[in-house]
Amino acid sequence: MSTTTKKSPEIKPNANRIITLDEFIIRSEKDFEFATGELTGLLRDIGVAAKIVNREVNKAGLVSIVGEADGASNTSGDTQQKLDVYANEKLIECLQNSGECCAIASEENDDIQLIPKVGSKQSHYVVLFDPLDGSSNIDVNVSVGTIFAIYRRKSPAEGPAQLDDFLQPGIRQVAAGYVLYGTSTILVYSTGRGVNGFTLDPSIGEFCLSHRNMRIPDSGNYYSVNQGYYSKFDLEMRRYIDHCSDQNYGLRYIGSMVSDIHRILIQGGIFLYPSTRKFPKGKLRLLYECNPLAFVVEQAGGKAVNAQLKRILDIEPKELHQRSTIAIGSPVLVDELKAFIERYSALPL
Ligand code: AHG
Ligand code: MN
Ligand code: MN
Repeated sequence: MSTTTKKSPEIKPNANRIITLDEFIIRSEKDFEFATGELTGLLRDIGVAAKIVNREVNKAGLVSIVGEADGASNTSGDTQQKLDVYANEKLIECLQNSGECCAIASEENDDIQLIPKVGSKQSHYVVLFDPLDGSSNIDVNVSVGTIFAIYRRKSPAEGPAQLDDFLQPGIRQVAAGYVLYGTSTILVYSTGRGVNGFTLDPSIGEFCLSHRNMRIPDSGNYYSVNQGYYSKFDLEMRRYIDHCSDQNYGLRYIGSMVSDIHRILIQGGIFLYPSTRKFPKGKLRLLYECNPLAFVVEQAGGKAVNAQLKRILDIEPKELHQRSTIAIGSPVLVDELKAFIERYSALPL
């Protein structure tokens, strides 16, 4: 051994420190006074499922997984895509990992499904999800997403979960978020204390904090609606769309609500799915599309209302697969729309 000692280099603070989703979730646990780690486990389960679904979405063009599942259709009569079914199965499998979820409800299943207990552990949460949102985009290589909502059950933890555990207004969500499988894959969620986004770094297989404390712009220059249905919209909605056009707002519509909402969260704007003749109560599902996205958008400073101007998060759900109209996005634009609805819906047809 040499008698001369080498001087160790000074370790400087790492300005490029990576914060992974798992680390962030565990660190955030201390923000909750009575945290027991249950929610932490659930969010981690969802993170794992997102990575598995992402892997399949990314190779969708390569394998025979693209296309419609054989003869399958879901409860709303939509054709099910193979990836819808795959994503549904993976989410259910992963939500069994931590043993924190007692039951799930999905766009792809008619009824709620109980999750087997892990040992004698009592689980207090139910999870609702749209496993693949915008799935008609898959075959054409356009972004899709996953949406999730987590509620604390109302029924006693000793017994099986009940439908009523799922039929809670959105304001009672304890956490909600989405995964967008886009040019990069990002998981965005809120536990009611702001919104954070984590981009998947495929080289290390980790979601890394990339969008800290996301805030939606107060206003924006984009509106997002299926303008092909213009003639089927009510007068107030047609007048509002005319106004957007008069103001030279750009029209952007991806056909995957997650993708449209993510753009609006970052750039500002408004997303509309109003009443049409085919879907008088709106097309989108309250419990696993509108509510979780309204929770995230409100937590980022935005607003979400239905065509009757009721706050989405205050609607008392009656059915698992209930539909709702929705206007969601930057607060100034949602207020602008409100003024149109108040002014024109009172007029005779
Ligand atoms: P899903 O693929 O889960 O059925 O959801 C599709 C939804 C939503 O993501 C999108 O905004 C909307 O349907 C598009 O509907 P239109 O084709 O009627 O515009
Ligand atoms: Mn959907
Ligand atoms: Mn779907």
